[in-house]
Amino acid sequence: MENPFIYGEIVTGKNLCGREKEIKELSRDIENSQKVLLFSPRRHGKTSLLKDILICLDRKKYFPIYVDLYPALTETDFIRLLAKAFSREITAPVEKTINIFKETFRYLTPKLSFSINKEGNMEFDVSIEKRDISPVLEDMLEGINTYIEKNRKKGVIIFDEFQQISYFETDKIEKELRSQMQTHRNVSYIFSGSKRHILMDMFANPNKPFYKSTKHFLINKLKVEDIFKFIKNKFLDTKIKIQDNFINEIIDVSECHPFYFQYICHEIWEMSFSNHEVLPDYLDKAVEKIMERETSTYDNVWSLLTVKQKKVLIALSKIEPYEKIFSHDFLVEHNIGPVSTLQRILKGLAKKELIDKSNGNYEMLDIIFKKWLQKVY
Ligand SMILES: Nc1ncnc2c1ncn2[C@@H]1O[C@H](COP(=O)(O)OP(=O)(O)OP(=O)(O)O)[C@@H](O)[C@H]1O
Ligand SMILES: [Mg+2]
Repeated sequence: MENPFIYGEIVTGKNLCGREKEIKELSRDIENSQKVLLFSPRRHGKTSLLKDILICLDRKKYFPIYVDLYPALTETDFIRLLAKAFSREITAPVEKTINIFKETFRYLTPKLSFSINKEGNMEFDVSIEKRDISPVLEDMLEGINTYIEKNRKKGVIIFDEFQQISYFETDKIEKELRSQMQTHRNVSYIFSGSKRHILMDMFANPNKPFYKSTKHFLINKLKVEDIFKFIKNKFLDTKIKIQDNFINEIIDVSECHPFYFQYICHEIWEMSFSNHEVLPDYLDKAVEKIMERETSTYDNVWSLLTVKQKKVLIALSKIEPYEKIFSHDFLVEHNIGPVSTLQRILKGLAKKELIDKSNGNYEMLDIIFKKWLQKVY
């Protein structure tokens, strides 16, 4: 029998826990052709949420394009990935798709070469000069908009891992996207990513093209009642006995983190499925197992931190929710120095995506790393 708890892969449909409110709100945004910045720390479920919405989208009404920018290192990669994502949505034979490309992107098409990969999908090679980047992108975005209008549909263009564009040599993509999307009344643009400091610099900095151009949509951890229902049903459906208070313990330990509750449940399920019962020590065993597996990664991360960063992380791993990190006692007890030093350290740790500010408090993002620190120090 297959383990019903999935981690590390995109989850949709019956494998998606909760998120009804987010789905409803984002679906309204799409309907309203809203421009949205969707963000959360890593592994909170942005891609899963977006894919779930895309699967349910009425193709008679909408033309969606989903671009994963993770592999994009240059402006040319961006253009190639956008072309590929567009072609994926054209459900026509290759010859017809090529014709659509020729009609839709007059400026881009001569610079493209097509091939078909082993899976039968189209692949693209783009050869453009630096000076052509802006006009090519303008041609593409205008072309996509016209194509959508011609087909009497609304558009949804999703750029996942959008922070990648901050590593490009120039800000041509940023500028072009901003100026084009403003004029596309029937297209919802969704920019999704996890690097808060980069995204905030792009979207909340008055000197940047995207300033005040989008609605900001933060994806939080999951709700206790949603996780409870999800865990209970998955164990019940696979005929494994589990006590309600045990489910609450899992939720407590995983701190409602979408990835970690799935990871922990996955391990507990593996231990229980042969005897159809969850035993009391399975939660500790699951956490131990995950910690063991991740130890080399944590060792690595640890070795790259400064002594002061380590001190703050150790302190954060032990801090109680009612304690204030900026208190005088805290700074003295951990020998950190003035508040300004602490602020600088926190900024550095946030940049490394090890901590995040939530409800005014700083917290470690990786709950197993936190437990590892509690155990080791
Ligand atoms: N709503 C959810 N229900 C159940 N599991 C979820 C949910 N959201 C996320 N997960 C779990 O978290 C994992 C990561 O989800 P996903 O890749 O969608 O997150 P992400 O925010 O896009 O991450 P990244 O920032 O790394 O791209 C999934 O494999 C799954 O185990
Ligand atoms: Mg993702």
